[in-house]
Amino acid sequence: MVLPVGSETGSKGHLIIGGCDTVQLKKKYGTPLYIMDIATIKDQARSYIKNFNFPDVDVDIVYASKAFSCTAMCELMKKEGFGIDISTGGELFIALNSGFPPGKILFHGSNKSLDEIEEGLFSRAGFFIVDNFSELETLDRLCGEKKIKQKIMLRITPGVKASTHEYIQTGKIKSKFGFGISDGLAIKAIEEAARSKNLELTGIHAHIGSQIFNLSSYDKLIEIMLKLIKDARDRLKVTIASLNIGGGLGIKYVPEDKPSSIEDLAGVVSGALKKYQEKYALKLDRLYLEPGRSIVGNAGVTLYEVGAVKEIKSVINYISIDGGMSDNIRPMLYQAGYDAFLANRMKDSQDTGEDKKKHYSIVGKHCESGDVIIEDIKLPPVAKGDLIAVAATGAYCYSMASNYNGQPKSAVIAVEDGKSWTWVKRQAYKDLIKGDKRLYEE
Ligand code: LLP
Repeated sequence: MVLPVGSETGSKGHLIIGGCDTVQLKKKYGTPLYIMDIATIKDQARSYIKNFNFPDVDVDIVYASKAFSCTAMCELMKKEGFGIDISTGGELFIALNSGFPPGKILFHGSNKSLDEIEEGLFSRAGFFIVDNFSELETLDRLCGEKKIKQKIMLRITPGVKASTHEYIQTGKIKSKFGFGISDGLAIKAIEEAARSKNLELTGIHAHIGSQIFNLSSYDKLIEIMLKLIKDARDRLKVTIASLNIGGGLGIKYVPEDKPSSIEDLAGVVSGALKKYQEKYALKLDRLYLEPGRSIVGNAGVTLYEVGAVKEIKSVINYISIDGGMSDNIRPMLYQAGYDAFLANRMKDSQDTGEDKKKHYSIVGKHCESGDVIIEDIKLPPVAKGDLIAVAATGAYCYSMASNYNGQPKSAVIAVEDGKSWTWVKRQAYKDLIKGDKRLYEE
C-alpha cells in the first residue's frame, strides 16, 4: 500500500490517516498540508532495528535527515534509538535543536565550509564522514589546534552503478562524492587519515544511490568495501573495523512498484558480510546503515484542495491543486510517479465503475507547464472543492520545498491515534520578506 499503515475509509467516506479524518484536518490546518503518520515512521524504524539485529556484528542505524528533517522528527528518531546523518550546518542545527546526542551525529557533506567544520567540532559531532583531501587536511589542522581527537569515516566511491535514476546514483566512478578506489585515492586517504594524530579513522563509508529496488548492488558494494579494508590491512597495516553502507532502499510510490523489503535488505547484507568477511579473512565490529526515504516516504501524504477543473475535449482533463512543484519537485526533477486519492469521497472512488472514471492530469498552481504532480490518473469526476491526497510524499518533498512564485511553505502536521500536532507551522507572507531590505538600504 502506498498510503500510511492503518489508513482507511471512514464512515463518511473520508480518508482517515492515523485515526484522523483528512476533511477535518483540512478545516483545522488548511491546504496544501503535509501529513506525517507517526505509526508508519515507528513501524519502519522498528523494522530496521529488528531485522538488523545481527549476532556477530553491532549495527547502528542512522536516519538520513535530508529525507525529511524538522525538530520533532529528529526527536522521534532519537527516541527510536537511531543516530542521525546530517549533511550541512543547517541540518546539524536542527538535530542539535531537537536535543540529539552529538555523539550519534554523522556529519556528511561533499563540500563542508570552514564554518560548518568548526560547528561540527564545536558541537562534538560523533563522526565526520570525510569526502576529500582538502577536508581531511582542514579537519586535521583544526583538531590539532583545538586539541581534539575526532572520529572520522572516509567516503569511498565504490564504482557501483545502482539501478535508479541517474541523478540519484552516487557510487559511480565519475561521482562527485568521495575517494575513488580505482585511481588509488581511497587507499591514499586511508594512509593519510591513519597517520594523523588528531583523527581516529574508525571506518569507511559509501552510499550508492537512492530508491533502489535491486539489492544485488549492496552485495557488490560490500565485497568492494571489504576488499578495500583488506588492502588497507595488507598494504598499510591499518585496521578498519567499521563499515557504513549508506541508505538507498526504495519504496512503493505507485501500485506497480515492487520494492524490496527491509527484511530482504537485511538478508542480502548479512549474507554478503558473511561471504566476504570469510573471503578476505576479516572481522568487522560495527556496521552502519543510513536509511532516509524508507523510514519516512510512505508515512507522508500531501493534502490539496482542487481549485479548478479544466477539460479540453478529447485532449486532456486537468485538476488544478493549490500547491505543486513548490511542495513536491520530484515529478519534475526525476519524472517520479505518484498515486492519489479523492480524500473527501473515498467511497465514490471505490463505488464508481472504471467506465465512469476519467483520466486526469493533476497539475500545480505554478507558472510552468511542467508543474505536474501526476501525469495521468483515473478518478471519478472531480469538482472544485474536492480534496486530493497524494501518497508517499514523506521523503524529499518538504525537504526540497521552495518559495517559488512566493508560495509560503506548507505546514507539516503529524497524526497518531486520532490526534494531530503541528510539526512545522505554515509559512506566512511575512516569512517571505523576513530577510528583505529596502532599495539601497545598508
Ligand atoms: N546516506 C547518504 C550519504 C546519502 O547521500 C543519502 C541520500 C542517504 C544516506 C539516504 O538515502 P535514502 O535511504 O533516502 O535513499 N532527492 C532525491 C534523493 C537524494 C538522495 C540523496 N542522498 C529524491 O527525491 O529522490
